[in-house]
Amino acid sequence: MGKKVLVIGQGGREHALVWKLAQSPRVEKIYAAPGNPGIAKLAECIAISAGDVEQLLQFARDNNIDLTVVGPEAPLMDGIVDRFQQAGLKIFGPTARAAELEGSKVFTKNLLKKYGIPTAEFEVFDEIELARNYARFFTDQGKKVVIKVDGLAAGKGVIVANDWEEASQAIDSMLKEKSFGSAGNKIIVEECLIGQEVSFFAISDGENIVSLVSAQDHKQVFDNDGGPNTGGMGAYINPPVFTAEVKDQVINQIIRPVIEAMRKEGRFYQGVLFAGLMLTDAGPKVLEFNARFGDPETQAIMPALKGDLYTLFETAVNGELKDYEVAINEGASICVVLASKGYPGAYDKGKVIRGLEDVSRDTVIFHAGTVEKDDQLLTNGGRVLAVVVQGANMAEAINKVYNEVKKIHFNGMHFRTDIGRKALKR
Ligand code: AMP
Ligand code: GLY
Repeated sequence: MGKKVLVIGQGGREHALVWKLAQSPRVEKIYAAPGNPGIAKLAECIAISAGDVEQLLQFARDNNIDLTVVGPEAPLMDGIVDRFQQAGLKIFGPTARAAELEGSKVFTKNLLKKYGIPTAEFEVFDEIELARNYARFFTDQGKKVVIKVDGLAAGKGVIVANDWEEASQAIDSMLKEKSFGSAGNKIIVEECLIGQEVSFFAISDGENIVSLVSAQDHKQVFDNDGGPNTGGMGAYINPPVFTAEVKDQVINQIIRPVIEAMRKEGRFYQGVLFAGLMLTDAGPKVLEFNARFGDPETQAIMPALKGDLYTLFETAVNGELKDYEVAINEGASICVVLASKGYPGAYDKGKVIRGLEDVSRDTVIFHAGTVEKDDQLLTNGGRVLAVVVQGANMAEAINKVYNEVKKIHFNGMHFRTDIGRKALKR
């Protein structure tokens, strides 16, 4: 019997997961909650929000779902995996206690310290004066210092302070003015690491790991890493800085030890582990972990992934990843995000999207913020679409992807023109 899958979420990342799952010969039917117009071409979208754990559970029960896959972090933190497991249903993702690896930076930093896993030197504070003193220790040496809130803050809870003034302001904003609410009850003050930033994705069943791939995101809205941070304006896989040697270090010094540490702490980590890393002169160090797939990294990863995603997820959920291997296409995969005017600030909506029918057959378009109205596809979010192409190498892929981007249009559309260019400089 073919398998029934429920994918939770509505962004480009979830479209990419659905797209890949739909290729599995084992999958008969995919539901997405709530999904989006792109996902609707491959799956049945159901009107349950990603945050409504009880309704999702009821739906999975009523429809004999074989496997549920969670896209965003919020339901993980809310314990969706715990609830499904208690009900005897299979679900891919970490429990709430395991997802603290993303949900609490204080938890994670303390875990890393306890198990000797490389990360920036840090202290945890809830008192302003003590935090300032520690920050001054770095700024007095003319070094930058990083101030972070403990909890989730939609990517805005990290300040890289250039000097004492900026550090002091960030500490005040977090601890005194409570700009981040309870997410900032505790803060971390840490050493600023210098190097290239990369992401690494691995799948764990709680004990064994399978490495997927490395990737590089482009967080700032403008070319050359200018302007404010966004959810991610583009990504590509296998950045050249992530050599085989670095990969070995990351797996043996970071990924395996952290999965083992979580097991020892009784926080069995099953799901995808997304490590944000800085490649420093002293080796790779952890910036942060996410308990979910990256967006837009996943849009670049899925078209390059070989094999059956359903079986990979199922094997992880069953705790049988030992000796499992995943292959990724040789060559390049690159994703360029098309965003609405104003994003990442307040942005336009309801603009007609044109040209999708003109893109090449081997180009993949993932929807993020779109809506269908009267047979027209309209923009409906900050990040609207992701354009993904594969190439024999990065130069070719970059050329190809921007040729495809040219074919697509909506009023106010903007995108970075330098996605992947860092890979060419090496
Ligand atoms: P995080 O959410 O902890 O990954 O932080 C967000 C971003 O801030 C990272 O992607 C880095 O660009 C930057 N960052 C965080 N921690 C550090 C650090 N210790 N040194 C340098 N940059 C950092
Ligand atoms: N692209 C970064 C993230 O998904 O958090």
